[in-house]
Amino acid sequence: MSKSAVMMASLNSQDAALSALIARRKAGFSLERDFYTDESVYRVDVERIWRRGWLFAGHSCEIPNPGDYFALEVDSDPILVIRGDDKQVRALHNVCRHRGSLICPEAAGHVSWLVCPYHQWTYDRSGALVGCRGALEDLDKTQFGLRSVNAREVEGLIYICLAEQPPNFEPARDQLASLAKPQGFPRAKVAQSLDYTVRANWKLVWENNRECYHCNVNHPQYIRANFDHYNTDDTSPRIQQAMEAAVRRSEQKWAASGLAATHQQTGMTRFPDAERNIWFSANRTPLVEGYVSETLDGKQVAPLMGDYTEADVGTLRIRTLPNFWNHSSCDHGVSTRLLPAGPQLTRIRVTWLVHQDAFEGKDYQLEKLLPFWQLTSEQDWEICERQQRGVNSSAYVPGPYSPFKEYNVESFVRWYLNTVMRDP
Ligand code: FES
Ligand SMILES: [Fe+2]
Repeated sequence: MSKSAVMMASLNSQDAALSALIARRKAGFSLERDFYTDESVYRVDVERIWRRGWLFAGHSCEIPNPGDYFALEVDSDPILVIRGDDKQVRALHNVCRHRGSLICPEAAGHVSWLVCPYHQWTYDRSGALVGCRGALEDLDKTQFGLRSVNAREVEGLIYICLAEQPPNFEPARDQLASLAKPQGFPRAKVAQSLDYTVRANWKLVWENNRECYHCNVNHPQYIRANFDHYNTDDTSPRIQQAMEAAVRRSEQKWAASGLAATHQQTGMTRFPDAERNIWFSANRTPLVEGYVSETLDGKQVAPLMGDYTEADVGTLRIRTLPNFWNHSSCDHGVSTRLLPAGPQLTRIRVTWLVHQDAFEGKDYQLEKLLPFWQLTSEQDWEICERQQRGVNSSAYVPGPYSPFKEYNVESFVRWYLNTVMRDP
């Protein structure tokens, strides 16, 4: 059997096992252990979710010039994202067409040519093979370019898709472009990136992201700035009035400019829409009175970004399944990228962006910029690892979601199950 026939046969038998698991699922309850631990479920996740959908790769401002690149790994697929001589962003499999060596082992850099370190086959910045000394004289070089990966850029965010026939990106572009535009990501720079290896299944990381039931006790910094942890069942009249006042203020100030709040309730934005397979969303929401930035004291800590002319613009929030969320204030943005590395292993990068002209030490201090999201993120990773350890136990059985506080977890799980069972 060919490799792809073997893979399909094994996916078919995995389908049968997965179908049985899904058939047993009780709506409104967390998933069974195998979804978070089992190697074959993980393989299906990789094939059906990670190798089919659009994945956030990084920011355009990380590779401003032709020849700039960064690398990432989606499970076992090493990918290069590189800006070409025509200024276009391309994604290429970081795998030599001679005998398969990794071409760029570094995480990021600049190249004139992509030269394989093994026998020096040489590719140009679009991935075309231009040199292969010692190979067959009549080798048709056009047949041995680096295999390409679909890439799209929207408002400074780079997405890739490993599928040969990628899903339509345009609906996501339409929504993200208009809401993200004022933030000015194309005119940003990376102030800091932190990499984490989190010992938890990628779905646990998302489920945690989709609720703020855990926020009161686990995120003392986050809840001071935000309304998300107040839900329909426990929003007091005082909180409701504060939210309404913040929304009214934003509407009066920015009715015409696209900066008015688009999320006007306490509690979290409803996302994803499992039934319509809406895997992208963006919205603007107010911060609590007195906060103009997601920082420890709510004060601005860096120059205004993008088109903003004042600090009181709430927060822009973007999320795209299966691997990205971003919270952006007037002065900085924070992107979180997930990459799957095993049934119980997720690699996570958190990246802080500021205006491209801002100087560290003069216009912003990392000690003031980082703590809010560094603390909140690390609190979350610890939660996810603790949950994974509990789920691994033979005593774990699925438990019920709160309809008031975990509606988005249920939506995420339904999106996941629909996506993983959908025919290509
Ligand atoms: S494997 Fe790349 S040149 Fe041989
Ligand atoms: Fe959290």
